Amino acid sequence: MEIIKDPKQIQDLTMQLRCSDKVVSFVPTMGYFHEGHLSLMRWARENSDIVFVSLFVNPTQFGPKEDFNRYPKDFERDKNLAEEVGVDYLFAPEKNDMYTDDHCTWVNSPKLSQYLCGKSRPGHFQGVCTIVLKLFNLINPHIAVFGEKDYQQLVIIKKMVEDLNIPVKIVGRPIVREPDGLAMSSRNAYLTEKERKEASQIYKGLQKAQKWVKKGLIDSESIISKLTECYMENIPSGEIDYIEIVDPDKLKPVQKIKDRAILAVAIYLGKARLIDNIMLEVKK
Ligand code: PAJ
Repeated sequence: MEIIKDPKQIQDLTMQLRCSDKVVSFVPTMGYFHEGHLSLMRWARENSDIVFVSLFVNPTQFGPKEDFNRYPKDFERDKNLAEEVGVDYLFAPEKNDMYTDDHCTWVNSPKLSQYLCGKSRPGHFQGVCTIVLKLFNLINPHIAVFGEKDYQQLVIIKKMVEDLNIPVKIVGRPIVREPDGLAMSSRNAYLTEKERKEASQIYKGLQKAQKWVKKGLIDSESIISKLTECYMENIPSGEIDYIEIVDPDKLKPVQKIKDRAILAVAIYLGKARLIDNIMLEVKK
């Protein structure tokens, strides 16, 4: 595996590759790898000829009071894990090489950013869209792989690619979970032992909601209030940021589940803000 830090160097390389007969795939990340990240890299390894991974903690997607300065890092470990999975190139640029002091061009997706995490993290998806487009322009991949864990991010990136005619295919992959159901996240490292135990209830609640829907409950307000109650009882140290039931493509809240809807939650637990989601389907 080759490590490249210089944006210009990686772009020169990928421009040539794009014209060859090789299929190039790309997994953007902020590092501190877990099985969720590695599952995307493995998929890329199996489905393309050359695998690029980026490792860059993107400052512009963090709010002023968020965890940019303490975001967990372990470059040596990440490097070894990526190499084991068979990644060909690890792109790990410095902040100043990605953003000059006078950077002033941004990509925005206001319609899809008004819901869910976009509502509680103003500016977050502007930072995400901008860095992802910059990375696409540097890596020139045929395929880019994202996790469904960040469901809103996946929808927004797919729409950005469609709207801006970016020549890349976006692939979404399922959420990888710990044995007790907690969605893997670099931010789980912030949890104390007690918080970590409570955190497993996030997915358990989502599964309960899925059962309620299977039994015929399709009214969003009722599902959300039952789940709120369940979380208040089982995650006493947590504070709910949001529980929403939304259209899977438009992300707009739905009042009743007609066919399929996404149940998405965000919960503050100690120093972490944890997100998770599940598809709710009404049997016809
Ligand atoms: P990061 O949080 O490092 O996540 C990188 C990729 O891994 C994202 O596509 C995310 O959805 C996926 N991922 C994280 N946890 C996962 C899990 N448990 N199962 C499956 N996939 C999982 O998302 C970002 O970085 C950044 O916003 C980025 C796109 C790199 C832009 O800076």
